[in-house]
Order: sequence, then C-alpha cells, then structure tokens
Amino acid sequence: MDKNYWNEYYKKGIVTQLPSLFAKHVFSSYCDQNTSLVELGCGNGRDAIFFAEKNIKITAIDQSEVAISKLKENFHSYTNLQLLNGDFTILNDFDNPFDIVYSRFTMHSITEEQETDVLKWALRNLNPTGLFCIEARGLKNELYEKGEPVGERNTFFYEGHSRRFIDLSEFKAKMQELGYEIIDYAEEKGFSPFNDDDETFIRITGKKNN
Ligand SMILES: C[S@@+](CC[C@H](N)C(=O)[O-])C[C@H]1O[C@@H](n2cnc3c(N)ncnc32)[C@H](O)[C@@H]1O
Repeated sequence: MDKNYWNEYYKKGIVTQLPSLFAKHVFSSYCDQNTSLVELGCGNGRDAIFFAEKNIKITAIDQSEVAISKLKENFHSYTNLQLLNGDFTILNDFDNPFDIVYSRFTMHSITEEQETDVLKWALRNLNPTGLFCIEARGLKNELYEKGEPVGERNTFFYEGHSRRFIDLSEFKAKMQELGYEIIDYAEEKGFSPFNDDDETFIRITGKKNN
C-alpha cells in the first residue's frame, strides 16, 4: 500500500537514522553473532544498518525504490547486508531459512489477507525454532480512528497514507492457530517515544513451533 507516499517520504530524507528501541530490544534479547534476519519493510534502513553493524546477516526488503537505491548507494560495502526492492507480501521462498523475521511498523501497512500470507511465508522461511518479531500500531494507538475510514475494518487514511490498526488478541490467536508459540507480547507506551509523544504500540514475538 501507499508506495508513492513512501517514495516521496524517503526522497525528503527527513527520517532519523538512529536505530529504533525495538531493534535494540530484538538484538539484545534474541540475537547472537550467527543470527540471520530478514526485515520486512526496512524503510531508510535505520534498523537494518544497526543489525548489519552488529554483524547480523541481514536481508532487508522494501517496496520503495527510492529507499532501497539510497541504501545500495551508501552501504554497498556491507557484505552481510542484502538489499531487495519488492513487495514483502508476495515473496518467493528463500533457499536458506532465517533465524528471525523482523517487522517494525509494517504489519499495519498491509491488509488482513496479506498479513495471513506473510505469517505463513514466515513459517516456511524460518529455521525450526525461528522467531517472528513484530512492532506495530494496535487498537490502543493514539491515531486509531483519525482520518477517513478506508477499505477493510480498522483501516484509516490519515497524513497521506493508510494504517490498519491491529487487534492484539485477534492477532495473537491467528499466530497461534497458524502454528506459532507466543513468547512475548505487550501493548503499551514507552516502546517508541518520539519528540514529546509517547504513543501506545503493540509488540509481539512468535516462535515457530517445530
Ligand atoms: C512506517 S515505515 C517503517 C520503516 C522501518 N521499518 C522503520 O521502522 O523505520 C513502513 C515501511 O514499510 C514499507 N512497506 C509497506 N508495505 C510494504 C510492502 N507490502 N512491501 C514492502 N515494503 C512495504 C514502506 O515502503 C515503508 O518503508
């Protein structure tokens, strides 16, 4: 969704290059020097570069050609960073599975049907005890119901793009039904403070159960 919006956004280059608190949390909780990780919707690469600099073997994907070409230009010397331009909801399966699938602020950019496809894709592309780590906007997020309702339920067009706010208990149940074990989840403030704002976000980590 909203590819043109994101291309224009990354042309402006206004977004921070500092890693998110979520990336730091995932790194300190779940990574070691052998970890391989795929990031779905890497944007300007703030987290992908952080992981790469921690020696994680990372594949970072975004639909925005602008974001990916800037990253390729600036970080071509990073041999442990693979950059792919494309839609992460229709990925082919990779030859080598990952230890972690990482999604920050991207699960609320896709439809419910795409979400199911991505959760299934992750199960096929994770190692037997691999993790899917997600941070996203949920129903308690302060932007919920702002702007125009569009498309399916809980989806609103606001500030130039669409967001589908995630119902944490439904999402958790869906992950469990598909075969994930939920090892961590929360919906609270403190996850991503920005300037004077400290909005409420969802975090959830599911472990492949076989
Ligand atoms: C809110 S930004 C988050 C970027 C980054 N994860 C971060 O935390 O800074 C959402 C990103 O997801 C990307 N995106 C949304 N839907 C996508 C899709 N279906 N395939 C690939 N990228 C997508 C957008 O292009 C955008 O870069």
